[in-house]
Amino acid sequence: MPVPAASLPLPPGPVGLPLVGSALHFIGPFSRSPHAVLTRLAETYGPIMSFRPGMAGNFVVVSSPAAAREALVDNDAALAARFVPDVARALDHSSESLFFLPNSSPLWKQHRATVGAHMSAARSLERTRHVRDRHARGLAKSMRARSGTPVVVGEAVLGSVLDVVSNILFSEDVGDMRVQGGQLFKDLMVAVLEDWTRPNVSDAFPFLAPTDLFGSRRRVSRGLAKLYKFFDDEFIERRLGANGENHGDLLDVVLARHTMSELTRSEITKFFTDMFLATSNTSRITVEWAMALLLKHPDKMKKVQAELAASIRSKEFVEESELNKLPYLDAVVKETLRLQPPAPLLPRMVVVDGMSLGGFSVPIGTYVLVNLWAIGRDPAVWPKPEEFLPERFLGNQAADFRGLDFAYKPFGAGRRMCPGLDFATRLVPLLLASILHKIEWRLPGGMAPNKYVDLKDRYSMVLELAKPLNAVPVSMP
Ligand code: HEM
Repeated sequence: MPVPAASLPLPPGPVGLPLVGSALHFIGPFSRSPHAVLTRLAETYGPIMSFRPGMAGNFVVVSSPAAAREALVDNDAALAARFVPDVARALDHSSESLFFLPNSSPLWKQHRATVGAHMSAARSLERTRHVRDRHARGLAKSMRARSGTPVVVGEAVLGSVLDVVSNILFSEDVGDMRVQGGQLFKDLMVAVLEDWTRPNVSDAFPFLAPTDLFGSRRRVSRGLAKLYKFFDDEFIERRLGANGENHGDLLDVVLARHTMSELTRSEITKFFTDMFLATSNTSRITVEWAMALLLKHPDKMKKVQAELAASIRSKEFVEESELNKLPYLDAVVKETLRLQPPAPLLPRMVVVDGMSLGGFSVPIGTYVLVNLWAIGRDPAVWPKPEEFLPERFLGNQAADFRGLDFAYKPFGAGRRMCPGLDFATRLVPLLLASILHKIEWRLPGGMAPNKYVDLKDRYSMVLELAKPLNAVPVSMP
């Protein structure tokens, strides 16, 4: 007879101190590398372990493909909610947010269906292909125009990502638009993300949350208020005041629902905020990491550029329809996502009684983190796990992000799997190919890239390069 989950033991884990729990593992230099700290702890306590950082509640960390499968497939319905950090409660954002609402919420279901139909379905992706091609071409042109000058690679890529997304949402470029107070939209996005992701004492010690000790929630509230107002004034009001012209974008879709009283204005501005938060950093950081890894490994850089030269030949710019001619570039993106998944810790929360994992009880209210960073480095599945070897993905059909291979899930899995997968797997390789085709990259001051590119990472909302990549594009004939 199966043992009831409640009588199973809790997963093993480090013994915490009174009050602070295991928080000491995560302070100082470790506050920006919880993925690595948890990977080390899993070596001692196993692939299903528990810990208690401060007084935030119990966390269970899953660090092997088999355990990830058990969590994300067998227990998908039980893991239906997410951990809500204190800053996400600013302006009540989390209560109407696609990220934070539980699966049972009708608003979550409606938003997922909207993103699925208008950003992910094959027909809508084909319809918006010209937008991605146009901005990829623009990015390539601007890198060539800056030939010989150092460029902050992530900043340049972010501008293009924001414009691609804003065209799909509003049919306009937003990167260089200004928000209330004169700040550039893209700078405001970076600032909000920075404040959003700073480690916050209110999360470890919820009784301190009302004091907002270091002002994180206040700063995020100010940033979000500007974003909401920007979307409201610049796009929603203007479109509502226009004469019903159809733009075929996402704004048309949500305003039609608003007219039928299915969506409020507040739900719409929060939806747009989430879409920019979800797309911008994840796609930008993947291109930035791929560039850093390629610069660090000149032999791989040569291979990818040789493939571009052979396949795209003398054509000036790469187009999305040609990505299928670039299997090595595809393997570079996949290997980048294995080594440095933008979202290394999938954050879920148990919403039902009686859940178990690997013979351990995982009670209702427990936060579950699936450590994709640890799984991508599991030596039992990945030979030479620390090495950047795009070749491992050549001809590897299993690595299609959707299969049953739980050793590789950079977009998550189950009902809360990333709804932007199909969009991202077109946009990211296209942007990367565009800045590699007919452009050679060097480091400022003639430094040898393989020596001086710094691959240290830093966890914020995504897994960032600790030092943003600064490199020099050199336009080639
Ligand atoms: C390289 C690019 C990207 C990566 C690696 C990535 C990865 C992820 C991951 C790991 C999750 C959590 C999944 C889970 O809990 O199982 C997620 C959630 C999400 N992603 Fe992405 N993402 C990327 C790009 C995008 C894009 C372009 C969009 C825009 C449509 C998007 C929209 C979202 C949304 C809305 C969620 C929350 C879904 C929910 O909670 O129901 N992402 N993403």
